Amino acid sequence: MERDGNAWRLTDAGSAHLTRAFPGRPVTVFLTPNGCALWGLAEEAASVIDHGSVRLLLTSPPYALTTKKRYGNEVGQDYVDWLCSIIERLMPVMESNGSLVINLGDAFIRKSPTVSLYQERAIIALQDRLGLHLCQKLHWHNTSALPVPSRWVGVERVRLKSAVETLWWLSPEDRPYADNRNILQPYSDRMLELIAKGGAARSKRPSGHACREGSFSVDNGGSIAPNLFTIANSGDQSYTRSCRAAGLPPHPARMPIELASRLIKFLSRPEEVVFDPFGGSGSTARAAESLGRKWITTEALREYVEGAKLRFADELLPAAA
Ligand SMILES: C[S@@+](CC[C@H](N)C(=O)[O-])C[C@H]1O[C@@H](n2cnc3c(N)ncnc32)[C@H](O)[C@@H]1O
Repeated sequence: MERDGNAWRLTDAGSAHLTRAFPGRPVTVFLTPNGCALWGLAEEAASVIDHGSVRLLLTSPPYALTTKKRYGNEVGQDYVDWLCSIIERLMPVMESNGSLVINLGDAFIRKSPTVSLYQERAIIALQDRLGLHLCQKLHWHNTSALPVPSRWVGVERVRLKSAVETLWWLSPEDRPYADNRNILQPYSDRMLELIAKGGAARSKRPSGHACREGSFSVDNGGSIAPNLFTIANSGDQSYTRSCRAAGLPPHPARMPIELASRLIKFLSRPEEVVFDPFGGSGSTARAAESLGRKWITTEALREYVEGAKLRFADELLPAAA
């Protein structure tokens, strides 16, 4: 390990010792009352998951970065083919009215302040090759994003910091299960006032939308969430502390548990199965367990599965404790 600002980073020499799963059947590393964490390759998960059982596949695969993370990634057309072939192999585990949410972030082209279109190419290929529908583009604004890519943002000052990622919501059918009432947001003060006074006066908005007399008078328990989730990626310190104490490398690209929680609530019901084929530090698993969903993860690097286990100190089933 070596110092990296306020954090610790695994050196390249250290990364070489991370233990990658072999091709073959995934191995169970730990179990909880609701879930199962497997050390294994995403592309082989369909051999151990009941077909037609997954309501929500929620995942953040490696992005097509030119500056690679320690777990590596493909780039260009190889990335598109790699992602499509994994999703194709996983499709049998999906319920037909289930959802796939694939979180991807921008990748800049090597030595250029321009952005790769790998996300768009991958999603078009998923539609063309596998017939998946694009239900909606959801976005995550990471309010604690660093000013990266540092050369273009911090040094040359010619780009804005990349702080928004896309959650591509796909489905085998065009009407998968979803209920936006599960993630209502608190009303604004203005909306609370409108409800209290019996709604808005009849009006025509500049956009052309007409408002009837008394519109917005009903209290529906909260306002409908927009397709932008604004969540800082700065919490999770107990996970990093536990990893360090156990001599494990903290995962370098974690999704906030709050983000996973909102998507799970929106796109699944209690007891249904949530699956993360690129499980990483177990953020999806942790959110699913807390929300009473069944869950399964696969992760290629054993140390990350061991780190994910630390998120479940009180819930491990005895055989795995
Ligand atoms: C972006 S990270 C996921 C982070 C995760 N969402 C979290 O919050 O911790 C991608 C993960 O996929 C894993 N991975 C890469 N290729 C894989 C494969 N073929 N099968 C399973 N896991 C893989 C990497 O080791 C890495 O941990």
